[in-house]
Amino acid sequence: MGARKDRTALVTGGGSGIGKAVVLALAREGARVAVADLEVGSSGEAVYSGTKGAVIAFTKALAREVARHGIRVNAVAPGPTDTPLLHRLRQGHEGLFEAMVRATPMRRLAQPEEVAEAVVFLASPRAGFITGQVLSVSGGLTMC
Ligand SMILES: NC(=O)c1ccc[n+]([C@@H]2O[C@H](COP(=O)([O-])OP(=O)(O)OC[C@H]3O[C@@H](n4cnc5c(N)ncnc54)[C@H](O)[C@@H]3O)[C@@H](O)[C@H]2O)c1
Repeated sequence: MGARKDRTALVTGGGSGIGKAVVLALAREGARVAVADLEVGSSGEAVYSGTKGAVIAFTKALAREVARHGIRVNAVAPGPTDTPLLHRLRQGHEGLFEAMVRATPMRRLAQPEEVAEAVVFLASPRAGFITGQVLSVSGGLTMC
C-alpha cells in the first residue's frame, strides 16, 4: 500500500473485466487512477487478431524509441480470462469454450486479478530493466 502514491495511471477499458481489476490493483497501491471506458460492438476474429498484433508491434517499436528517455513499454497478453467479454462469447459456444479450457495446461480460466498483477508488476520499479516484452498470463496456453 502506498507504493504508487503520487503516481497517476490512465486505464482504458477500466470499467469491466481485466481493466477494472487493473484499476483496483493500482488504486490499492495508492495511485490516482483515471478510467476511460466505452461500450463498443464486437468484431471478427481477423480484425481482432490484427489489432492484437498491432499492439505487440507498437509495444516493441515504441520501447526502442523511448528507452533512452528512461521510459519502458511492455504488454500483457491474457489467456482466456473470466470476464464479461468471455461470458458473452460463451453464449451458444459452450463446446468451444470447454475446448479452450481443455487446451489450457492449467485447465482453468484466469481471474482478472491475476492478469492485473502482471500489469502492476511491469509498471513497478521491480521491472526496471524490462522493456519491449509481451508477458503471457495464460496458464501455459501460449508458450514462447
Ligand atoms: N477475457 C479474455 O479471455 C481475454 C483474453 C485475451 C485478451 N483479452 C483482451 O483483454 C482486454 C480486456 O478484455 P476483458 O475481458 O476485460 O473485456 P470486457 O468486455 O470485460 O471489458 C472491456 C472494457 O473495455 C471497454 N472498452 C472497449 N473499447 C474501448 C475503447 N475504445 N475505449 C475505452 N474503453 C473501451 C468496454 O466498454 C469494457 O468495459 C481486451 O482487449 C480483450 O480483447 C481478453
